[in-house]
Formats: sequence, structure tokens, C-alpha cells
Amino acid sequence: MSKQTLNNPSEIGAEISEKLCADTREGVRNAYLVLPSGQITKFPLSVGAEGEQAVDIGELRKETGVITLDPGFRNTGACQSAITFVDGEKGVLRYRGYPIEQLAKDSGFIETAMLLIWGELPNKKERAEFREMLTNNEMLHEGLKPHFDAFPPNGKPMALLSVVLASMRGYEPKLTEIKSDKNFKPLVAKIMSQVRTIAANIHNKTKGSPWQYPNPDFGYCQNFLHMLHSIPNKPYHPSETEIKALETFFILHADHEQNCSTSTVRIVGSAKSDLFASISAGVNALNGKLHGGANAAVIRQLEGILMSKKGFDEIIAKAKTNPDFRLMGFGHAVYKNYDPRAKILKSVAEKLLEELKISDPVFDLAKKLEQVALDDEYFISRNLYPNVDFYSGIILKALKIPTNMFPVIFAIGRMPGWIAHWREQYLDESTKIARPRQIYTGHTKREYVSAKDR
Ligand code: SDX
Repeated sequence: MSKQTLNNPSEIGAEISEKLCADTREGVRNAYLVLPSGQITKFPLSVGAEGEQAVDIGELRKETGVITLDPGFRNTGACQSAITFVDGEKGVLRYRGYPIEQLAKDSGFIETAMLLIWGELPNKKERAEFREMLTNNEMLHEGLKPHFDAFPPNGKPMALLSVVLASMRGYEPKLTEIKSDKNFKPLVAKIMSQVRTIAANIHNKTKGSPWQYPNPDFGYCQNFLHMLHSIPNKPYHPSETEIKALETFFILHADHEQNCSTSTVRIVGSAKSDLFASISAGVNALNGKLHGGANAAVIRQLEGILMSKKGFDEIIAKAKTNPDFRLMGFGHAVYKNYDPRAKILKSVAEKLLEELKISDPVFDLAKKLEQVALDDEYFISRNLYPNVDFYSGIILKALKIPTNMFPVIFAIGRMPGWIAHWREQYLDESTKIARPRQIYTGHTKREYVSAKDR
């Protein structure tokens, strides 16, 4: 890190151009910060695999005494990661280099999970071994069941999911040593497998149905739909169409780089909290209606329009004028183009409804609303397009899943992404505990006034 201070501001321009020319001659790229004091400080430029550039400000405060201010971290890279690449301007999403469109079409959810967590698509042997682990680890410890009994009938499913995931730690003493996959892989299998059992039985609890156990002969998605909908006197046998739709849903939700919930998992994990505590925190972040809670909010908003029979002009007008009101399922912090996942989910919904012979007025309304919004200057000028949540609820409704469970289904899909990021960070020796700074805007120093004088 080099810095210098020029007392005569008129010399700064020449000095900077000299430095930039020298960098060009040496074939290096640096950024230079000029402060009002005349201090010029050089910062290295870090360039990603896809050419994204970041100014490495790791020494900023030490060298200059100033910090950056970036509410919501929209312009701030929290880490370097090799897991997922998103190009928000072009609407590109790739997991470990594979385009999401190819994975959604040709891959399976567990194969995609293995790709995200361990970096490569598994071969047949690896896939079979992991499937075996999923089956061998699918039973939830009976000691966790009292959490379900204590849960209030109209409690939030995501709250119980978070509690049970955090409590699993108590039954898994061999948790933190993950440098060797010897005990990390079974641990991942336990979480990936049991999150289905937990989710399905949260649903059973809220609808007053008895506990359902997994069936070792079923595949991942088939088993989940079985536990979700089977009752003792009437087992549920999902169709291939339903299983494939859920598989694609999970693949599309599996990871999305540094989104709010994944960043939460990383921040909690950076304090050396264990994997269960970190993903339990991620569940609570995902539950926010601006994040994973949006899929249910979309359906409620569309059903509200249907019932009001006022059409969606009122909703569109409200979304454009009321700063506290959002068209749910629209807009994105990163995509300023059509979310590639929304495109695929829309076609999955079309196919699923057609094959199940379901006519869903909410889906018809969603397609019309999309068209109106995409022709409206307000949405066009702000690059607001349908995001992953706009059509996902249509699929879940067709799979007979109630809206209060939608964020839980999102969490099952996102589990491999959370685990992958937690592991990537855990294995990175350079990881530091996350500790952002602030600009203080409160009172300056003042003397205490005793109660009798106030
Ligand atoms: C997910 O980060 C991820 O990757 C998340 C996710 C993942 O896979 O993990 O993709 C999953 O969370 C998808 C997003 C789900 N949420 C919603 O659908 C809720 C509705 N969307 C908005 O709340 C909003 O678009 C956000 C929160 C998603 C993004 O908000 P931004 O980028 O912070 O946008 P902003 O608040 O800066 O808004 C910019 C402008 C504002 O208008 P102006 O102040 O410029 O006049 O766009 C407007 C906003 O009012 N705007 C909307 C809008 N979204 C933004 N106006 C109406 N309806 C909307 N949905």
C-alpha cells in the first residue's frame, strides 16, 4: 500500500496521471483515492473470473483514517467466492460455471447440491454413495419432536424450522471438525435429508395430521411430497410431473451468491458458530417478506386482486405511488433484467397446470399483470422485472402446498447454497469475523443529569 500527501492541490492531477501511466507500463491495475487533505492512496484492484472488478479496501481505514459508507452493502463485496456467478444486468445465473437453464433441464436437486457444496458434478458412484447417506440419515432424532408439540397451532412454520435446525446441534456432537469430509459429508446428508422431515411435519402439525416418517425407497422429492401429504389411511403417491416440478423448483432456489440469507449464514459462521446455528439464522433472514417471504406475498396479493374484482390497475397505481407498497415478486437487488429463474418457473408452472389439468385464475392474472407492468414506464425505467418469487407460488399451490409453507419450501431449496457458502468460508484460512463499521450520527459527549434535575 503506498500513500503520499501533496500540499499543493494543483499538482494532484499530474501526480495521478503519472501513477496511472506507470501502472499501464507495468501492466498492473490500481485505484487511487484522493482525500481533501491532498493524501493520495493506492489500492489494488481485484478482478474476478468473469472480469468483475473490486477495489481492495482492506487497508483503507489504517492508511487513510476514513471508511466507506454503503447501506445494504449494494456496492460492497463481502468475500471472494467460487460457488455462484450472477450477472444482474444480463440476467445470467451459473452454479460453479454451469448455466442455470442447463441444470434446471438436465440435472437433479441432489446432484446440484453436491455440485454447489463440493464444486463438481458427482459421478455415478459418488451420487449413489451420497444417496445412501441421505437415506441413512433421514430419521430425525425423536428427542426433537417435543418442539413440534410445543408449537402454537397458528405459529409461523419458519420459526419452528429455525428452532429445530438450531436444536439438532445437541444431537450431533461431531459437528465442527469439517476439514475432512469424512464427517462433514454425513453431516450435510443429515441436514439435507432431515430438513424435509422437519418441514413436512411442521405442515402435518399445523393441519392436525399425524407425524409422517420418510420412506427409504423413495427419492428425495418423492419422499418429501409423501411425508407432506400422506396420512395413515391414505398414502400419497405424487406423479412424475409433480416430482419433476418440485425438483426444478429446488434447483432454481439452491443458491444465489451473497443474498440476504446467505450473507446471514456467512456472518454467523464467521464468528465460528456451528453449521446448525448458521443455517438457523439464515432461515430467519429468508423469512422476511422482501426476501423468501415474497413467494407467499405474491399469491396473497394476486388473490386479493381477484377478490376485489377491481382489476390490477389499483395495485399497479399503488405500487407506483405508495413507497411502503411493493408489487410482490417484482424487482430485484441485483437483477436489472428478467430473473432467469422466473422464466423457467413460469414454464414449469404452465406445464404442471396443463398436465394436472388445473386451471388457476391466479396464474392467468399473474401473466396479465406481468405484461401490464412490463409495458409501464415506472417499471421499465426502474428495471423492475419478475423475480424468482413471482411464479414460484403457482407451482407450490398446484402441488397442494399452503402459502404459509412457501418460505419453508424455499429454505429446503436454499439449504445446499447456505451449506456451500458456510463451508467455503470455514475452509478459507483468511476468513475474519464479520464486523462492519458505522458513521456515528448521535449526540456528542454530554454530562449525566440526575433524575431529580430532569
Ligand atoms: C429474493 O438477493 C437475492 O438474490 C434474493 C433472491 C435469492 O435468490 O436469494 O433472489 C430471492 O429475495 C427475490 C426478491 C423477492 N422480493 C420481492 O419480490 C419483494 C418486492 N421487491 C422489492 O421489495 C424490491 O424489488 C427488492 C427488495 C427485491 C429489491 O429492492 P431494491 O433493489 O433495494 O430496490 P429499491 O428499493 O432501491 O427500489 C428502487 C426503485 C424504488 O423506486 P424509487 O425510489 O426509485 O422511486 O424501484 C422501486 C422502489 O420503490 N421498486 C418497486 C419494487 N421494487 C423496487 N416498486 C414497486 N414494486 C416493487 N416490487
